[in-house]
Amino acid sequence: MKDLSLHILDIVQNSIRARSSLIEIEIEEKPEQNRLVITISDNGSGMTPEQLKRAIDPFYTSRSTRKVGLGLPLLKQNAEMTGGSFRIESETGKGTTVEAVFGLNHIDRPVMGDLVGTLLILICSQEETNYVFKHQTPSGEFELDTRVIKQTLENVKITQPEVRSFLKEILQENLEQIQISE
Ligand SMILES: Nc1ncnc2c1ncn2[C@@H]1O[C@H](COP(=O)(O)OP(=O)(O)O)[C@@H](O)[C@H]1O
Ligand SMILES: [Mg+2]
Repeated sequence: MKDLSLHILDIVQNSIRARSSLIEIEIEEKPEQNRLVITISDNGSGMTPEQLKRAIDPFYTSRSTRKVGLGLPLLKQNAEMTGGSFRIESETGKGTTVEAVFGLNHIDRPVMGDLVGTLLILICSQEETNYVFKHQTPSGEFELDTRVIKQTLENVKITQPEVRSFLKEILQENLEQIQISE
C-alpha cells in the first residue's frame, strides 16, 4: 500500500510538470467527521475537459516515458476504498485542484509515511517553484509558505544543503505538535 506522502509527491510532480509556480498542499485531519482531506492545487497549465477526462483514466498518460499513468486513478481508488471521495477540477491557463478524502480510521487508509522527507524533496529541489503547505488537526494548525522563507533567507538559496536541515527541524517540530494519527 502506497503511503499518503507518496501520493502527495506524485500529485505534486504532476503540478511541477504542468509548470506551476505556486503549489498549495493542504492536509486536514477531522476526527469528529472521521475524515482526512488532502487538497493539492496549482497554478499550472491546467487541462481541457477532454484532457481531464483522460487524466482519470488509468490507461492514459501524457508522458512518453511510461505508458500507463497511475497517479490520479490510484489516489482515487485508494481514497474511495476507505469510504472517502475524490475530486479533480482543472481549467486551462488557470490550474488544477485535486481533493482526496479518506476515512481517517478506516482499516485500509494508508499511513502518512515520511511527510517531512517528501516536503523537503519538493521544497528544496527547485528554486523557481513555491509551496504553501498547510496542516490542520484538532490540536492546531501549521502553515509554511516558501515565499516567506525565501525572503528571510535573503541571499541564501533554498536549494542549499544547510537550508534543508533548518527546514527539516521547523517541519518536524511543528508537525509533531499537532500530530494526532499515523
Ligand atoms: N496538475 C496537473 N496539471 C496539468 N495536467 C495534469 C495535472 N495532473 C495530471 N495531469 C495530466 O493527467 C495525466 C495523468 O496523470 P497521472 O495519473 O498522475 O499519471 P502520469 O503522471 O504518470 O502521467 C498527466 O500525464 C497529465 O497529462
Ligand atoms: Mg503523475
